[in-house]
Amino acid sequence: MRTAVIGAGTIGLSWAALFAAHGAEVRVTDPRPDLADAVREALTTFGPHLATQGLDVRGIADRVHLADSVAEAVHGADIVQENGPEDVELKRKLFAEVAREAPAHALLLSSSSAIPSTAFTGDLSTEDAARVLIGHPFNPPHIMPLVEVVPGERTAEDAVRRAVEFYRSVGRTPVVERKELPGFVGNRLQNALQREAVHLVQQGVVTPAELDTVITNSLGLRWATVGPFLGSHLGGGPGGYRHMSEHIGASMRRMWDSLGTPSLSPESQERVIEAVERDYGGSSYAELTKTRDRKQLAVLSATTASEKTTGSENQS
Ligand SMILES: NC(=O)c1ccc[n+]([C@@H]2O[C@H](COP(=O)([O-])OP(=O)(O)OC[C@H]3O[C@@H](n4cnc5c(N)ncnc54)[C@H](O)[C@@H]3O)[C@@H](O)[C@H]2O)c1
Repeated sequence: MRTAVIGAGTIGLSWAALFAAHGAEVRVTDPRPDLADAVREALTTFGPHLATQGLDVRGIADRVHLADSVAEAVHGADIVQENGPEDVELKRKLFAEVAREAPAHALLLSSSSAIPSTAFTGDLSTEDAARVLIGHPFNPPHIMPLVEVVPGERTAEDAVRRAVEFYRSVGRTPVVERKELPGFVGNRLQNALQREAVHLVQQGVVTPAELDTVITNSLGLRWATVGPFLGSHLGGGPGGYRHMSEHIGASMRRMWDSLGTPSLSPESQERVIEAVERDYGGSSYAELTKTRDRKQLAVLSATTASEKTTGSENQS
């Protein structure tokens, strides 16, 4: 399989390593002057993460090639994954070029975090718009399994099916979403929580690091195994979600009215930024990501091993 990775920042570099580790040829393009160094460093850092996931990473560097332009990157590609800046006009221009230059059969995917593809495919022909859709990963995509597959208004059913097939083939867990909402599902949920987190910090209830401790020792652990609905179903005891909803749920819903709307003034935002920098600024990006990736891989391998055990218990 031939893939093109357009935009090689945080997300594009991670996709490139993942695709190559699954045996795909990858052509990467990005106007950044340090592209060759960035790709080399990413493959060196991400290779061991991919090996932990059971992939044979020998030769991944030989399968990742640099391209001087979008046209060169998408030439002969079966799959294009776009990871340029989160800017609707830039994505509109990029997709016009990608659709013009890529082979007619190529599937055109965008990592967009919040912008639905309908917002940047208006200028494309019906045939081209039919093959564009969102494939939104969580950072970093070579570790996080989820990909939100979100068709636009003119995306063809067949393109959705091919996207699901492609992401499964690179070991991801695709979920197809039936309506295009800004932020899709994952970022809407993340931002509902982030909104209250900023409010709590602004109110002086906790510092950013204290809030993070609350999450990593409770909801983070829980949500790696059961989502909010199954968590509530079990939280209701044998009476399940019904009991939870009628009992504690009523008390929880009374609290909904007190959930916060944080101040968005530049001064208030600056104070939150300073608070985060106070808590975490003492460590470098490289140190923090190293720790994060080690822990995320440990959680992933524990949950994967546990699923295998459950599978074999159910079979016996
Ligand atoms: N960082 C995240 O947590 C995250 C998670 C999921 C999805 N995304 C989405 O992925 C996309 C990329 O995000 P990122 O965090 O990697 O951003 P980033 O800033 O790290 O990387 C963007 C890259 O695009 C390059 N670029 C600029 N113009 C370009 C062009 N014309 N052609 C090709 N490349 C170009 C930049 O040089 C830069 O290297 C965005 O749409 C973002 O919303 C980000």
